[in-house]
Amino acid sequence: MRAKDLTLEEKFKLLTGKDCWQTEDFNGKLPAVFVADGPHGLRKVEDTSVQSGNTTHKNTAYPTLSFLANTWNRNLANLMGSSIADDCIENKVDILLAPGVNIKRIPVNGRNFEYFSEDPYLAGELAYEYISGVQSKGIGTSLKHFALNSSEKYRHWENSEVDIRTFYDVYIPAFKRALEADPWTVMCSYNPVNGIYASENKKLLKGVLRDKLGYKGLIVSDWEAVKNRARALKATLDLEMPYNKNSFDELKRGFDCGYITEEEVDESVNRILDLIEKSEKAKKIRKTSFTEKERHENALKIAREGIVLLKNSGVLPLKKGAKIDLVGETGLRIGGCGSSAVQPAITVKTLEECLSEKGYIANRKYNPKFFTEGEYQIVSCYASSHESEGGDREDIKLNSIDEEMVIRLSNQGKKVIAVIYAGSAVDLSKIEGKAEAIILAGFGGEAINEALSDIISGEVSPSGKLSESFPSGDYVNPLEEGRKICLSSFYKERYCFGYRYYDRAEEKPLYPFGYGLSYAKFEYANLKLKMKDEVSCDVEFTVKNLSKVDGSEIAEVYVRDEVSLADRPFKELKGFEKVFLKAGESKKVKLTLPRSAFSYYNPSAEDYLVESGTFEILVGASSQDIRLSGKVEIELPEFKRYAVVFERN
Ligand code: GLC
Repeated sequence: MRAKDLTLEEKFKLLTGKDCWQTEDFNGKLPAVFVADGPHGLRKVEDTSVQSGNTTHKNTAYPTLSFLANTWNRNLANLMGSSIADDCIENKVDILLAPGVNIKRIPVNGRNFEYFSEDPYLAGELAYEYISGVQSKGIGTSLKHFALNSSEKYRHWENSEVDIRTFYDVYIPAFKRALEADPWTVMCSYNPVNGIYASENKKLLKGVLRDKLGYKGLIVSDWEAVKNRARALKATLDLEMPYNKNSFDELKRGFDCGYITEEEVDESVNRILDLIEKSEKAKKIRKTSFTEKERHENALKIAREGIVLLKNSGVLPLKKGAKIDLVGETGLRIGGCGSSAVQPAITVKTLEECLSEKGYIANRKYNPKFFTEGEYQIVSCYASSHESEGGDREDIKLNSIDEEMVIRLSNQGKKVIAVIYAGSAVDLSKIEGKAEAIILAGFGGEAINEALSDIISGEVSPSGKLSESFPSGDYVNPLEEGRKICLSSFYKERYCFGYRYYDRAEEKPLYPFGYGLSYAKFEYANLKLKMKDEVSCDVEFTVKNLSKVDGSEIAEVYVRDEVSLADRPFKELKGFEKVFLKAGESKKVKLTLPRSAFSYYNPSAEDYLVESGTFEILVGASSQDIRLSGKVEIELPEFKRYAVVFERN
């Protein structure tokens, strides 16, 4: 069916959802496409007339995307996507409203647990795999929130004002990479972008997303993000969600006065019809491949690899049979609040249950009198405030009771292991010198305590590394200052946040981007660099496991433009590989840095360009722990060279 087969009234109706979760079906004349959240597992609201009702459907609760990013494992991102797709198939959901790839500009953004990273390369790589995994099962995705949805506090109206280089070098690349997985839909954000609401921002939706990035699919609004349906149509926003009673009249008024044309209406209508057709065709190939038990196993696999060991005095792994007191709140946070919340189908095991199953004498202690009976105390620590959609945290403090507990028990000479169940960065500086070990359990999903017990017992060596910097000390939200004078958040820090900031600042993070410990010890050697062509470079090095335990190591590859015409970050992540090494084993790591690893967005050329000159390639175990480095020369031929950068005198 095409737009020409519909009446104008039918076209107007089709441009807005039938209810909260379905496209218009003209009482069965058309198939409806059913959409549902979320990135960490299926949240299907039973009553389609409401946006957040009770979700009778209970599904596998996977770790959050911030946790998945700590695995740095492309295969696991793909696995998570294809596993959630099974829940969608079984519950007749056609499109999963995920993944979110917004870059973590500020650590207090309420939805950081729902996003991958402060770094666009890491976010883009994992989003690409996640989308590919979901769509491999014939379920669609919605890449979100386009764009610059960097804060939740005033997300419905605070204008994100950004300069063009920061926009294209920091906030677009994750979308650009994820689009290569051909997501069925892209969801626009609530906020204005450079002065016009994203839902009706033609420069953003058509100029950037469609014309610059080449996106040909359907653009859907965030829920209730459309301010005026005719203006949104003009900007090429195709589908408004959810149903909005005003939209038909807005479209009619816009059409009658000539503001929107039938051609523009038909373009969006045809993209909706294409989506419906795509979904109907996909129904024929949809087939689950995991049982519910296997989906839980998948969540466990991800949980094992996303746990980050931040400190270990040597106390871990705990000797078998040890007596352990579990101190602190048992009410687990396995995910954040808002549209991504999942009701797990199983009863989440407690850490004491999991440790007891492994032969430890592990008991949860509620009465302070008994807090120090065991040889070790594991203290559960949470963020001081809820991490949720729709609001930002006031600070990055730990819950003061948990923090005080770690300090007090440590001062009593106890061997304290702090387990941090927080979905984004928290300030651990007050417990860093007190706890014998600190484990970031993140929002690790329904299997997190099984995974924790595997690591605490030493059955699995921790291999996660931070996908966002963990600042130290009192953090002040920089956006608050600007909010006193206008309704706009100007990104004056440009790329200077996260490791890009710390590389140049006196101040250092407590735990840097890309940091994480293992029970094994790894050595990097034999870096070889070879230009493959004028703008891409083959990188090879070896990683050796020097220890007697097996383990996985994430090797990070950064690129630095040694002398640049443009103000660029000191270095940027442009490659990574995760290698499993048995005790004593050595492996060669090979990757190719493509043109995009060297380029930056040049506003005069309105494109990503590479300068001629010297580039340094840095291979690290974290952004602050560079193990190998080498240099390559890029010499562009005469008519590809727009500026030769001379050595500074
Ligand atoms: C919410 C979120 C979006 C979600 C949608 C449907 O407001 O911003 O991520 O997919 O509405 O729940």
